[in-house]
Formats: sequence, C-alpha cells, structure tokens
Amino acid sequence: MEDAFNKIVSLAKRRGFIYPGSEIYGGMANTYDYGPMGVELLHNIKNLWWEHFVTKREDIYGLDTNILMNPKVWEASGHTASFTDATVDCKKCRQRKRADHLIEEYFEQKNKEVKVEGKTLEELDEIIQKEKIPCPVCGAHDWTPSRNFNLLFETSVGIVTGEKSHAYLRGEIAQGMFVNFKNVLDSLSPKLPFGLAQSGAAFRNEVTPGKFVFRTLQFNLSEFEYFFNPNKTSWEELYTYWKQEMWHWTTTMLNLKKSNLRWRPHTDEERSHYSKRTEDIEYKFPFGWKELYGLAYRTDFDLKNHREKSGVDLRATDPESGEKFIPHVIEPTFGMDRSLLAILCDLYAEEEVNGKKRTVLRLPPWLAPYQLAVFPLVVNKPDLVKKAREVFKLAQEAGYRIAWDDRGNIGKRYFAQDEIGTYHCITIDYQTLEDNTVTVRERDTMKQVRVNPAEFLNKGKEQYSPKGIIAT
Ligand code: GAP
Repeated sequence: MEDAFNKIVSLAKRRGFIYPGSEIYGGMANTYDYGPMGVELLHNIKNLWWEHFVTKREDIYGLDTNILMNPKVWEASGHTASFTDATVDCKKCRQRKRADHLIEEYFEQKNKEVKVEGKTLEELDEIIQKEKIPCPVCGAHDWTPSRNFNLLFETSVGIVTGEKSHAYLRGEIAQGMFVNFKNVLDSLSPKLPFGLAQSGAAFRNEVTPGKFVFRTLQFNLSEFEYFFNPNKTSWEELYTYWKQEMWHWTTTMLNLKKSNLRWRPHTDEERSHYSKRTEDIEYKFPFGWKELYGLAYRTDFDLKNHREKSGVDLRATDPESGEKFIPHVIEPTFGMDRSLLAILCDLYAEEEVNGKKRTVLRLPPWLAPYQLAVFPLVVNKPDLVKKAREVFKLAQEAGYRIAWDDRGNIGKRYFAQDEIGTYHCITIDYQTLEDNTVTVRERDTMKQVRVNPAEFLNKGKEQYSPKGIIAT
C-alpha cells in the first residue's frame, strides 16, 4: 500500500500536480505547492463544490472573509484555550510527535485500529508507558510527559512602527461566517434556515510530518454554517439531511468509490469543544482509514459566545412570533486538499497495453485538468498543423479545457495524456484533409472512432458533467 502511495506522490511531482514546498532550499516540512496540473484539478474541485452547494442553492450564501481576524474572535470561539493537540518530545533525538498519532501508528504496525484522539494527557502517557512505545526516529523509549500544544499560528501585526500587535492566522474558516452573521441578516434579511459558505486557506501548526498533502500547515477548506431556529427545526432531521448531501457529493460529484468510504461517529472524548455531535466521512487512504470530511452540530456555541464577548446582539427574530433567539448551526466541512488526494488515490491505475505499461488517472472528465487534447499527427506538415489549430480553437471557443500536444509520436502523447487524466484525444491526420473527420480516442477504453470534429464538439461540454459522459 505504501508502495502504491509512493507511486502517486511520484506521479504528482513528475506530471506537475504537486511539488514539495520551497524545494530548492531543501523544502519545508508539511508544505506543498500545486503545479500547473494540480492547480487546475484543485480549482475544478473547489468550483464544483461552490456551484453545487452555493450557486445552485437558494438557501446558501457565499462569503470571503479575512485570514487575519481580531484575536478576540479566537478567544470567544474557544480556540486559544482548546484548539490543542497533545504532544510528546523524544528526549534522545528531540523528535516531537502528536501523542495520539504516536500511539495509533504504533498499533497500526501491529494491524490494530486504535483511536485515542481526545484522551487526557494522563491517559495518553499511561498508554505510551504501558506499551513502551519507541521513538519512530531513534528507537529510544524516553518521552517527555504529554503537554498541550496550541495549533493556532501566531503572527504579529505592526500598527505603528515599533509597536507590535499579536494576531493569529485563522485556524478554521468558520469564524468568518459567525462574525458576519449579523451583517448578512442586516443586508440580505434571509429567512432561516440558511447557510453561509466559504472556501479559503486555513492554517494549523501541525507537528506530525508526512502523508503528503493529507496534513499540511496551510490547507484549503470549504465549509458552510447552516443556521436554523431550534424551536422550529429538528437538529436531528437537518443533520441527517446534510449527512445524505455530503455522501451524495462524495460519491456522485467526486465519484469516489463507496468501498473506500465510511462514516465514523466521534467519541465523546474526541469531539471538538464546540460540538454536540460529530461524524467524519473517512477515506481508505493507502496509509489507513482517515478523516476526509466532517459534519458537526455546533449548537449555538459560537454565536452565543461571540454575543457575550462582543456585546453585539447576534439573535435572529422569528417572523411569525417575533421571538428572538440565537440560531443553532449544522456544519458540513470539506478539506479540499484531502479531496484531491483521495481522488488521486482512488483513480490511479497501472495497466499493461500491448506489452507496454501505461499509467492512467481515471479522473472524472468534469474534474480533469484537461477534458480534451488535440494533436496533429506529425508536426512537420503545415496543412495538418493548420487544421489541428483550427480544431483546437473551435474547442477552446466552445469552452472546453483543452491541451495542445505535438511532441513525440502519437502513442507517447496518448500515454502522457492518460497520466494526467485527459478524457479524449483528438488526432488530425491525412484523412482529415480529405473528408474532415478526426480520430477521437477515449482514455479509459482506448477505443478510437472517426467523427466530424464540429459535430463531436457540438455535443457540448456539459456532456462532461456528472450527469453524463460524452459518447464517442
Ligand atoms: N470548521 C470545522 C473544522 O475546521 P476540522 O475537522 O478541524 O473542522 C475540517 O477540519 C477539514 O479540514 C477536515 O475534515 C479535513 O478534511 C481538513 N483538514 C484539517 N486539518 C488539515 C490539515 N492540517 N491539512 C489538510 N487538511 C486538513
């Protein structure tokens, strides 16, 4: 499994999806940069999410709030006090580890699935001592006692030269929705229940390195807070509704295999300080079942605390009874980098074709960096190149995401496009000049058909949507 994962990491770098961060300076742990293919795939996932949960719904509004917020936000939200991981340091080699990861990875090696997130510092120490868990780097069993390590990234804001003011990079994007709740009520007067959504970067001072973009210092998060009146709407029903919607997104829009997905409820111990119920969708990554997304019932925890700490009335008014109340919130949250990683893991395949190995990323065409690639059969025949350029322009004007490739031979071009998940390849050859037909080759079946290019393109790019794939 680790071998399969290494191949995915290697393809990601080789074909321009994901590069190690600051690589020419030796890198920086837990940071990665998206390359030309990766950024397209990431944008396609984020845009699809936005279109699905915001644009196409009447009850969810988008926001784009600041990464830097008044530090009082993080005090009111409980993050300065409770947004912590228990860490231990190896006294011999100074390696710092999250205590829960140290324990869980130790048991994983023994093929046992153990979850200890949320246990007290004393309970974690007891397990580490009882099992005599060694340091994964130097092998010594000489750990400091567990201590709480806050995940918020601290920074300074210089207001006047010489004076510094303390601030944090946002640890979750949800707080931007809570602090703007009143602004949205005042400016749009939306009817409850409604949601506020955003997509953006969040930052966490993660100590555990490794696992590629699964756990990074900066990551892309898309989530919404769905506000409702608890006297009018049952939270259990809403929770079930959003659970089904999240599953639909994961299995239909992202197209991930159901056999690699499961729901896992959080235990009372591991649940975040703000939540009354949390369940994760877990994905079976090559390194084990891990959290992909989360669904939490945050009650009125955030609005209540912000109301108390800011002194601003964050209640809504029931239009029928005139009753004032603090709305409750259900929060579906989606890690975008983890979505991308799960897609790569789900759809990476190696096959043997006529004695040659091909690597293919079976990306859904609505997410692939390119839906189409256009090739002239050979590059030194101006008529072919001219015709291929015409087809390329036609496809571009029709709004397809399209690649031009005229390097190497056709076989090599097909294999290169397969590796980045391009769905169809269109080749312009000598016959095109006679009867204006082109060869269209489909990625997964490798089936080739001769068609009129305009007719093929006229089928419309919406054919590459989750509703149905274009038929050649
Ligand atoms: N507002 C709720 C919230 O932030 P979370 O479970 O802490 O909840 C949400 O994070 C999602 O963000 C997770 O389900 C996961 O997909 C992603 N995520 C969390 N930490 C991450 C990290 N360090 N690197 C990459 N993705 C991360």
